Amino acid sequence: MHKLHWGSELGQQDVVDIVKLAAETGVFTPDEIDCLREDSIECLGLAQTDGEKRDALAVLRDSSGALLGFVQIGKLPITENSWCLWWIAVAKEAQGKGVGTLLLDWSFKKAEFLSCSLGSAREFRMFIETSSKDTFAPARGLYTRSSFVETARIFNYYSTGDAKVIFVRESER
Ligand SMILES: CC(C)(COP(=O)(O)OP(=O)(O)OC[C@H]1O[C@@H](n2cnc3c(N)ncnc32)[C@H](O)[C@@H]1OP(=O)(O)O)[C@@H](O)C(=O)NCCC(=O)NCCS
Repeated sequence: MHKLHWGSELGQQDVVDIVKLAAETGVFTPDEIDCLREDSIECLGLAQTDGEKRDALAVLRDSSGALLGFVQIGKLPITENSWCLWWIAVAKEAQGKGVGTLLLDWSFKKAEFLSCSLGSAREFRMFIETSSKDTFAPARGLYTRSSFVETARIFNYYSTGDAKVIFVRESER
């Protein structure tokens, strides 16, 4: 039985496992892994405070406690009600079984719930930024299948030939 944990249920071991899982997917650079570690630690700290209302980190574990995947979202500062999916990854051996879809669905519903609890405007949207590289083709496929639409492409953003691709999904409200 898989179980999703988030907010104050999370601890330091989750950060260790998240970083290990992300590194093992083989798609992230060492700089990105460092950035992920910092973001996860920050989100963990926020989970103990009011910040939990604006940021959410969730991990999905199987019945033995093994980490299957994780996702991190947050409200974008100085926007009325725009959210960003900062990170998502699924363990290599768990990929292709619907875990990424489940985590993405959870993220969108969580953003909706948090935006309601913040008393924000009824409409909200979620952005995801990714790379145009072939290694991120599964991620772009996942986003498209989950009702995200490519809204911008910034050429040579990450490096020459590697564009930033921005996806958005609007709420139905
Ligand atoms: C992108 C990523 C998160 C997708 O996670 P995932 O768990 O493999 O995603 P899903 O299983 O939901 O969907 C992937 C494929 O499995 C298929 N699938 C979904 N549920 C399934 C099931 N129950 N049985 C069999 N296949 C299934 C989907 O149709 C999809 O197929 P396709 O891509 O060939 O069309 C994962 O590939 C990953 O961690 N990549 C490395 C990290 C990364 O790129 N992160 C994004 C950074 S921007």
